[in-house]
Amino acid sequence: MSRLIINGGRPLHGAARAGGAKNSILPILAAAVVNGGENIIHNCPDLKDVHSAAAILRHLGCRVDWQGDAIIVDSAGMDRWDIPDELMREMRSSVIFLGPVLARCGQAQMTYPGGCELGPRPIDLHLRALGQLGVEIQEDGGRIYCRCGKMQGRDIALALPSVGATENIMLCASACSGQTRIVNAAREPEIWDLQQFLRKAGVQVSGAGCRDIVIQGGGPVRRTVEHWVIPDRIESATYLCACAAAGGRVRVERTKPAYFSAVTHLLEESGCQVETGEDWAEIQAPRRLKAPPPVRTAPYPGFPTDAQSPVMAALCLAQGSTVFSENIFENRYRHCAELARMGADIRVEGRTAIVAGVERLRGAAVKATDLRGGAALAVAGLAAQGQTEIRDIEHIDRGYQRIEEAYAALGADIRRED
Ligand code: UD1
Repeated sequence: MSRLIINGGRPLHGAARAGGAKNSILPILAAAVVNGGENIIHNCPDLKDVHSAAAILRHLGCRVDWQGDAIIVDSAGMDRWDIPDELMREMRSSVIFLGPVLARCGQAQMTYPGGCELGPRPIDLHLRALGQLGVEIQEDGGRIYCRCGKMQGRDIALALPSVGATENIMLCASACSGQTRIVNAAREPEIWDLQQFLRKAGVQVSGAGCRDIVIQGGGPVRRTVEHWVIPDRIESATYLCACAAAGGRVRVERTKPAYFSAVTHLLEESGCQVETGEDWAEIQAPRRLKAPPPVRTAPYPGFPTDAQSPVMAALCLAQGSTVFSENIFENRYRHCAELARMGADIRVEGRTAIVAGVERLRGAAVKATDLRGGAALAVAGLAAQGQTEIRDIEHIDRGYQRIEEAYAALGADIRRED
């Protein structure tokens, strides 16, 4: 068990670099089984979840190697279609292997995925959509057995624009005959990245970023794919929030501000000066933040649920009260009780949290409860007076590559203890 020790209250200055997007690399690694060949994926972040995906790929019989920040997946030798429970439970994204394993092998066996506990995270939309494509699904004691009947593309309307379900459908539909149209598809940038990867593999897919995505079946035709993962918008947004909270001036490089404009806009409304270019964003924090209009999480291009907690950590110190409305997940306020230990004034009522800004936070012993909630505690710890100890930082490691090094490079007094 590792922990972060932060001596807070020091403004941050300097540059941070965004890594490859966690939410892109995970579906792309799953997609690498589809073409039965060599996939060279650059800008791959060194994250716990990426290692979990690599473990699944190796179990399935794929070769996985690292070369610097590139991960190379050779799926030619894939000879299994089952994923054991212990690998499934490592992360939520294990469920994204369902579509591609079916596309490649015509059958799949797995259990329910694990991941952050943000309330119930069903996979009914995934299973219903795969059923509509002709997959026969049997569930028995938490196990899911899938076998492809006649796989036929068709229109699939999603009740919610689920990111994971959209990805699973795109991947499975690549092996169907005929055309599949996903209506009410998720529009996140990571969906676009998956589309780019699939196109490089020779799959005809279009529409990512729009409401409808169209996939022509027939399978991938190219055995070798080389791809560069897009930058992580949530990691970038987190660094900006850390500066907004602790003060100072920080530039995030190798990023794509267009992907997180909802967050930069909100930080501007909170009194920060934010400048952006094609691949960088720079923030200058005000003397004190001011409470912005209500923050309502929504599917992309709305305010990202993954940025809710880091932004909240910063706004704990704002002048005035901020209302948060969490519309994606039922239980995404677990960090609030930990922030309260640091002196934050937060009232949670169902899906609403009301944050009354306080003048200062004080260091405390806290516990990361989930990935982004843990990152929020680090943001608060950087701004707090005195020492903060964050336990259970394995959650943070799922989505941030050596977060302490990024903050130390900005002048923070932070260290990891194992
Ligand atoms: C992805 C992201 C996660 C982000 C989330 C929402 C990855 C690896 N993870 O998660 O970081 O917080 O999008 O932007 O990309 N739902 C159902 N039934 C389903 C599927 C989803 O009811 O079958 C519900 C979920 O419970 C949730 C909502 O739909 O309330 C959105 O979930 P979804 O978009 O599927 O999130 P993930 O793909 O799990």
